[in-house]
Amino acid sequence: MQPIKSHIDPRSETFQSNYAENLAGIEKLRGELKKSTAGGGEQYVKRHIARGKLLPRERIEMLLDEGSYFLEIAPLAGWGMENEFIGAGTIGGIGLVSGRMCFIIANEATVKGGAVSEIGQRKNARLAEIVAINHLPSITLVESAGADLPVQHKIFVPGGAGFKEITRRSKARIPSISVVFGNSTAGGAYLPGMSDYVVMIKRQAQVFLGGPPLVKMATGEIVDEESLGGAEMHSRISGLSDYLAEDELDGLRIAREIIDHLRPPPLPSRATVEDPIYSRDELLGIASADIRVPFDVREVIARIVDGSKFEEFKPKYGTTLVTGWARIHGLMVGILGNNGVLISEAANKGAQFIQLCNQQDIPLLFLQNITGFMVGRTYEEQGIIRNGAKLINAVSNSTVPAITLMIGGSYGAGNYAMCGRAYDPRFVFTWPNHRIAVMGGQQLAGVMDIIKREAAARSGITIDEEKQALAKKILETQIEKESDPYFATARLWDDGIIDPRETRTILAIALMAIHQRPFQGTMEWGVFRH
Ligand code: COA
Repeated sequence: MQPIKSHIDPRSETFQSNYAENLAGIEKLRGELKKSTAGGGEQYVKRHIARGKLLPRERIEMLLDEGSYFLEIAPLAGWGMENEFIGAGTIGGIGLVSGRMCFIIANEATVKGGAVSEIGQRKNARLAEIVAINHLPSITLVESAGADLPVQHKIFVPGGAGFKEITRRSKARIPSISVVFGNSTAGGAYLPGMSDYVVMIKRQAQVFLGGPPLVKMATGEIVDEESLGGAEMHSRISGLSDYLAEDELDGLRIAREIIDHLRPPPLPSRATVEDPIYSRDELLGIASADIRVPFDVREVIARIVDGSKFEEFKPKYGTTLVTGWARIHGLMVGILGNNGVLISEAANKGAQFIQLCNQQDIPLLFLQNITGFMVGRTYEEQGIIRNGAKLINAVSNSTVPAITLMIGGSYGAGNYAMCGRAYDPRFVFTWPNHRIAVMGGQQLAGVMDIIKREAAARSGITIDEEKQALAKKILETQIEKESDPYFATARLWDDGIIDPRETRTILAIALMAIHQRPFQGTMEWGVFRH
């Protein structure tokens, strides 16, 4: 494999202005991520600490191996949304525990007592999906007031799936551990209830179907919390708890010991790791801050793959889609990256490439920077829909795992053909310059303008130009706001916005997660429309 030859000029005006804007984007990201670590606010954090408890992020830190990474998923879920805190009251991510890749979930007890909000519930579902699909042992650090009661109508019915999924994972030999640090009431009691292993912290864990007030109301029985659902009672009498921990650190130690006896995951075949020959810092000058300005995806590939080496497939054909093989931290991956609008040849090439990766059991990496498929009479006549359908068919039926990284625009059917969220990639990450929508705000407002004018003409109505212009502007602004990466990540359209310079490390962790479970490519596809 040959290294990619880079053609960028770091002194150019384009590079410099991209660099400055992308750096500002990263500063903003850092600021928002910092906010996401603030829990429910100073008052609640102080109270939590005064109770002698570790904060959820401290618990995670103590649980992880020394020096381990923690790839946090959807840290900005709920961002800017009504009735939501940034992070949606749950922390979840991948890290090493006793040398083993695990998924850790922690209730943010300082946010509404750790109650599960609407987005919190959707985030929990996404975290559970990552656990299940990658066969990662999960460790849940429980301290939750259960459902966010005032919005119970939004979460109660779908929320039940969480408990079902724990036991289904158990059946699939994916172990789950609950370490209970505090309250876990009603539905929340099934979190430990359904887990394979339960650790309860002495004098802290309280697990019951109904707390003392409810019991008194329902049956007249008067009972204190500790006797009703304390760690001692569950460890000695009810049997719900398998391990009685002396304190929080002891509970985390026990969880680490449990992980230690699990059977090891399969070992992926891995080549020696080589660093890219170009600086990752240059990604900031390469990625267009203005997503309307194209840039060569090979320059990105050169800065994320081992030795910057890329075996390009069909480089002269369908050139708006770059396809080829490379390694990331020694792990082979088939890369599909956009270099312009998708045309028929590019779509055909992509479909063929996905088939080749399936034949060899090679995971896929999609680098999305796509305005969509080419439109216009000539392209329709050439069968752009038919050929695009071929690529979507391949993406839909492929059985090798995929990771999608959005490094620019993600518009229209391009989002689908390049394995957007709805096509079940194992992970979706975005860069701060990313924008996502059916189409750009200007285009969408323009299309609506034409439709309204045609409808008015058909009905013989005269358009009020001033009103029409205002409506167009309002719609354009709305679409631009909704295309923002923060709007997207708040709603879990992706697993997080990342600093482009951390791309290689994050992809390596994601690829290792994928390899925790054996996988096989398919040779079976839907009917290809030739
Ligand atoms: N839904 C929404 N908000 C909740 C909540 C819930 N399930 N549980 C607590 N909160 C809110 C409280 O109203 C309070 O908000 P405020 O400070 O704005 O008044 C905040 O979270 C902190 O609650 P607080 O009771 O002061 O915290 P605590 O640490 O002393 O106690 C619990 C935590 C979990 C023991 C206690 O809040 C509780 O018993 N909650 C109800 C648990 C329950 O029965 N859930 C049913 C689930 S189906």
